[in-house]
Amino acid sequence: MASCAAPTAPRIEHHSGDGSVLGSGCSRPRLSWTVPRAETGWVQTGYEVEVTRAGVSEQFHVAGDQQVLVPWPAEPLSSREVTSVRVRVAHEQQWSPWSPPRTVEAGLLQTADWSAHFISPLGLGADLMPAPVLSTNFTVLGHVAQARLYASAHGIYVATLNGRRISDNVLAPGWTSYEHRLRYHTYDVTDLIVEGDNQLGFLLGNGWYRGRLGYMNDRALYGDRLALLAQLEVTSTEGTVHTLASDGSWTARESEIVADDLYDGQRSDLRRAVAGYPLPTGAVEVRDDVDLSTLTAADLPPIRPLQSLPAQQVWTIARHGGQATIVDFGQNGVGWVRLRVRGLAAGTEIVIRHAEVLEDGQLATLPLRSAQATDSWILAGAEEVVLEPSLTFHGFRYAEISGVSDLRPEDVELVVVGTDLERTGWFSSSHELLDRLHENVVWSTRGNFVDIPTDCPQRDERLGWTGDLQIFGPTATFLFDTAAFLGNWLTDLAAEQLPDGSVPHVVPDVNRNELAFTPAAAWGDAATIVPWTLYQRTGDAGVLERQLPSMRAWVDKIADLAGPDRLWSGGFQYGDWLDPTAPPEEADKAVSDPDVIATAHLARSAQLLAQAAAVLGRDDEADKYAALAQEVRTAFAAAYVSPVGRVHSDAQAVYALAIAWDLLPTPAQRRLAGQRLADLVRTNDFRIGTGFVGTPLVCDALAATGHVDVAHRLLLQTQCPSWLYPVTMGATTIWERWDSLRPDGSVNPGGMTSFNHYALGAVADWLHRSVAGLASAEPGYRRITIAPSPPAALTHAAARHLTPYGEASVAWERAEGQFTLSVLVPVGTQAEVHLPGTEQVLTVGHGEHRWSVADPGASRSGVRDWSKATVRDLLDDEQVWTQLATAAVQAGIVPDVGAAAAKLLKYLDTSATRVGFAFVPDDRFPGAAAIRAAAYRLLSC
Ligand code: BGC
Repeated sequence: MASCAAPTAPRIEHHSGDGSVLGSGCSRPRLSWTVPRAETGWVQTGYEVEVTRAGVSEQFHVAGDQQVLVPWPAEPLSSREVTSVRVRVAHEQQWSPWSPPRTVEAGLLQTADWSAHFISPLGLGADLMPAPVLSTNFTVLGHVAQARLYASAHGIYVATLNGRRISDNVLAPGWTSYEHRLRYHTYDVTDLIVEGDNQLGFLLGNGWYRGRLGYMNDRALYGDRLALLAQLEVTSTEGTVHTLASDGSWTARESEIVADDLYDGQRSDLRRAVAGYPLPTGAVEVRDDVDLSTLTAADLPPIRPLQSLPAQQVWTIARHGGQATIVDFGQNGVGWVRLRVRGLAAGTEIVIRHAEVLEDGQLATLPLRSAQATDSWILAGAEEVVLEPSLTFHGFRYAEISGVSDLRPEDVELVVVGTDLERTGWFSSSHELLDRLHENVVWSTRGNFVDIPTDCPQRDERLGWTGDLQIFGPTATFLFDTAAFLGNWLTDLAAEQLPDGSVPHVVPDVNRNELAFTPAAAWGDAATIVPWTLYQRTGDAGVLERQLPSMRAWVDKIADLAGPDRLWSGGFQYGDWLDPTAPPEEADKAVSDPDVIATAHLARSAQLLAQAAAVLGRDDEADKYAALAQEVRTAFAAAYVSPVGRVHSDAQAVYALAIAWDLLPTPAQRRLAGQRLADLVRTNDFRIGTGFVGTPLVCDALAATGHVDVAHRLLLQTQCPSWLYPVTMGATTIWERWDSLRPDGSVNPGGMTSFNHYALGAVADWLHRSVAGLASAEPGYRRITIAPSPPAALTHAAARHLTPYGEASVAWERAEGQFTLSVLVPVGTQAEVHLPGTEQVLTVGHGEHRWSVADPGASRSGVRDWSKATVRDLLDDEQVWTQLATAAVQAGIVPDVGAAAAKLLKYLDTSATRVGFAFVPDDRFPGAAAIRAAAYRLLSC
């Protein structure tokens, strides 16, 4: 009988890691585990969960092979209850050792558990006034066995006990749709409490609640008063519980922070923190008007400092008649500057400005729009002090610091801040630029996953744009454990959806107007696509269960808008937002018809809703929406697809959608559409022609119709616009626009020019699934598809992912005509392996596997008989084509290589030997002789 190693400590709902879970909001948390090693042939046939509460253990035996998100087997947890859980697994009669235990402690699950009241400062802490501190003193007699602090706020808070920060969480309680859900955190403060006198204090900042929010220059969107909710529960060694709750006895005072805002930065006058400074003080008001029923436990990782980046280069520039220091951290990141200064007199002012790029040697602040992104300090004296804000964050690579001369690089660092998500996905290859592109995607995820998924982290926006995340979801779920993070955001999305199903363009919604809810394809479709992506990648059907009403409401809404002809047309649309042809100020002026995009999304959303209903066993609903999806596909084809597979508006994005989402009725139309897409890419000189909507799909669509080599050329293009162009320009994050920095080094003048916007980085998902070849074939990677399609220009590539079942990996390399594939398949899964260049498909179980086959790329080389080739083949031969196109430019026929490719769209089927005629049909025209000679030389014709 096969045996296995002990399973890992159970994952409790979506809490990763193996530490205790504190303050769980779930009374019946589901459990998951992985089995790190097992002998060949081992399969789980049963498991046993042991739940220990109050010293009593109960064991629950369950038959079957489930190991991901299995139901909580015991009585539900009550508020504050602590249980310890461990698991063991069996193959037939043979049991594994027990896993290590994991402790889960419930939070405050009922509103009635709160004895605390929200309190607001009186007479101070008003909007645009210094940040207030609310505090209380208390005395502890006897020994403390345990102390828990439950806290939330209107605004953001920094909590201290006896002057020490109670945790490294920052910007708590984070940002949710505050009207519907306000998060509280649970902290273990046992070690901070002392016997005798204690002081608990909360610095309150404006944050998302009362600070500036959105690009309409709004502020105080949720209310104009900061407020705190805190409940400290101290258990003595004798077991008595003393509760200290925020109430009317607390006091308020101003702090040294005289202004704070997420967009504009933080200003501190440290002289106000010196003992004896007459800070205004006041009482607090109990806010019984605040509804506690919206409180929800923080079941996702907190925002915290994740790492710090040292200064790479420091230099001085002239500024405002004086001098300032520019610090380059070498990486565009999100967080703040930590600066150590010494020897500067009281009253000295230090100002730190932030920017993502430099232009003409100065910070380029235009892309920040109205965000001031400036932190400043007035010092209190000459002793050494570390300056670091706590009520703001910025997106920047460069800081300009004034007020400190002779700044030493070791005194300054970039503190990277974000939601502490576990990294779960990696990619590497032999292609340096591609690896940097991937690294840039990782940085843009980190920088924009700050409690909610945002569009950008630097300008006066930083909003949860639904379209951006919908597009990027598959990439994000591979790179990081986003199950809880995105699940939380989807709960907000559903909470904010209008009763008629309309989805706001940003979640949480800040625009609060009619336009913000006008159904927009690809943006509103986040309601259906994101839950489905999460389910595919995590195996969590619970997310479908939770989101189903939201998914249904959205589909009903857009089906209704489409009407009986099943075509969703007219009205407001973002379309293929920011395609490369869109002028700087008209991001929606794409070449793709927005109506085509809208109807494609209706078909997709109806289809996904049908599939979700089927997963949940709602067969009638599944049938209803599958039929709707079919009707929409039929209408789409009738209106937009010609018999020969031309899709209306004839742009890269519409073909990408039609192919990737199965909108083409016949195999012939699909084949011809694929060919047309490939031709559009070729004659665009293998440069990208898509915006937000088409970008994640275009490589898949090419590969699925037999044009993977064209997809590889598109992927590896370095000219603008392309994925690698920004990398050649020194990008360290993904840019919002294909040309946020233009080839001449100038910043794109469009009012929307971020250098940290993940949407166009959605291609990373294709790197994982196709270039490396690691994809989920069944929800949660229960079955894995391993199907690398090795680009000719790469000698190796690899991807690794921590699936819900454990680590899966693929690595391939080519050497001396051999292609070697090494894979790791986690226990509990099976992989279907497609060996490139062969028809072979193998199914393998867990463990390490390795194959070697003849390198499919090796046969591609060799001198071609151009008399049998077409102009299309010529474009496909990168070397020969580049030389010929260069000759066309030199002969003055076209201004650049891109224009040379564009000129050939109508001649792709022409014999390659006639390419000179395709360029210049008449011998008498200028350049004719030169291009004919070049063709003769290159093609021997
Ligand atoms: C955001 C985008 C977003 C778009 C839609 C922009 O301002 O930065 O990423 O999707 O607006 O209008």
